[in-house]
Amino acid sequence: MKRSEINREIRAAEAFFSSLGFQLPKFAFWTPEEWAGHGPEIREIYDCNLGWDVTDFGRGDFRRAGLLLFTIRNGVAGSTRYPKAYAEKIMISRSEQKTLMHCHEKKCEDIINRGGGKLVFELYNRKSPGERELADTPVELVRDGERIIVQPGAKLVLSPGESITLTPNLFHAFYAEKGADVMIGEVSSVNDDRADNVFYQPQRRFPLIEEDEPPYRKMVGDY
Ligand SMILES: [Fe+2]
Repeated sequence: MKRSEINREIRAAEAFFSSLGFQLPKFAFWTPEEWAGHGPEIREIYDCNLGWDVTDFGRGDFRRAGLLLFTIRNGVAGSTRYPKAYAEKIMISRSEQKTLMHCHEKKCEDIINRGGGKLVFELYNRKSPGERELADTPVELVRDGERIIVQPGAKLVLSPGESITLTPNLFHAFYAEKGADVMIGEVSSVNDDRADNVFYQPQRRFPLIEEDEPPYRKMVGDY
């Protein structure tokens, strides 16, 4: 991705979150100069990978395959310094912008439609742990406290306010239904984007960045 495109998406995200009444913590708005003015007291932000995260999964077509995220809180698995066992993110899926099929080895996450349009999921069980294959068995999961069963690959649509729980080894892809962007929440166990994501089709989690202009905001990948 070009840095200019990332800058544009972060500016648009700040406006979108604000329009839906969602407030980000102060460090979301620091300029690169303000980051440079801080020292070891903000080590947790770096070590727990808090902050902006814009990805095109290395595909170069962000508005079709991509996701904008902001990690608000997180820990580090096995760390005594950062024992927080939970994480929270706020994200944006633009109309028909897909987060590609993946599952998690360890993380359990609730994905929440926090507002905007409708959020569409496609779900599959993992054929067996350690493999990338999708099973053709019905998927059993919980939607806001209610146990439901969906057919593999069938569309499950969440309206604003609704959420589902994705347990480890449950493959999922999602996108905002055509016509309206969605603000998405994630509440999960501790998050490790460098080791925990298993993509059905192998690809990058973080983008390759072409530095065509100065960064507007620092991102997790810049730390
Ligand atoms: Fe996920």
